[in-house]
Amino acid sequence: MKITILGAAGGIGQALSLLLKLQLPRGSKLSLYDVSSFTPGIAVDLSHIPTSVEINGFSEQNAALALKDADIVCVSAGFARKPGMTRSDLFELNASIICELIEQVAITSPQALIAIITNPVNTTVPIAAEILKKAKVYNKNKLFGVTTLDIIRANTFVASLINRAPEDLNIPVIGGHSGSTILPLLSHIKGEAQLNKTQIHHITADIQTAGTKVLEAKSGGGSATLSMAYAAARFCLSLVHALQGKNNIIEYAYVEGHGEYARFFSQPLLLGQNGITTYLPIGAISEFEMYMLANMLDQLKNDIILGEEFVK
Ligand code: LMR
Repeated sequence: MKITILGAAGGIGQALSLLLKLQLPRGSKLSLYDVSSFTPGIAVDLSHIPTSVEINGFSEQNAALALKDADIVCVSAGFARKPGMTRSDLFELNASIICELIEQVAITSPQALIAIITNPVNTTVPIAAEILKKAKVYNKNKLFGVTTLDIIRANTFVASLINRAPEDLNIPVIGGHSGSTILPLLSHIKGEAQLNKTQIHHITADIQTAGTKVLEAKSGGGSATLSMAYAAARFCLSLVHALQGKNNIIEYAYVEGHGEYARFFSQPLLLGQNGITTYLPIGAISEFEMYMLANMLDQLKNDIILGEEFVK
């Protein structure tokens, strides 16, 4: 099993590389790529950790070498928000980076599962889809926008409110990965710990604005990197387990589903050896969640069109 990280020298990429070096199954290969010339050095650094994961680093013009025979490609390359910016403001900076990298993936490892972390995810995933389509290698069952960070935030915030261990929660979050398009399904919390209306409104807003809170707290030092890397590693390991043939691997991700709400939408997915095997339904939702869902769709669809039109 070979996993390639594109953007491996950045704040997310380095932490993700470390987590995967520690957690990938024995015998896996981890390949790091970034334009930064010190990327091979990051691989040398990580190679001293005694796990049976072979690690190599590539930089500058050597993306193809990093991608050769990759089973999974994680893309964290690009710029992070600065205070005052929305995720959409990153479109100008990151759209062409995604285009270039996905063009290379289409040539070198078109069979790989691709997990996109680079913001704005609502738009970078449609860009990647259009690039892969142009190259005639698009398989919608293999392209994912990583939204796991919203789920782990939901678990953490709700756990502290209802006095439960965050590890015991698995709160679904659907839609997209920015502002009002992030919709936690708090009505799905199991057990007796039902939240009241005020709590639901507050926690929903907290989850939607969590990325901005990190950005402000870092005051110019970037956006979330460590929690994002944790989330991306968790998602990537689920892809690894699915490729290994493990059963019942379910994750939420932003994918091209059946278009019930928008062309791309984060929903539950059953994963298998060829990527998504079943697009699972979001299940019953509350009146509040229905209202929030209806209200996010214009924004989400505009974000998607922006990506589609960028490639045309
Ligand atoms: C996050 O949710 O923390 C990331 O998408 C980074 C950001 O810009 O908010």
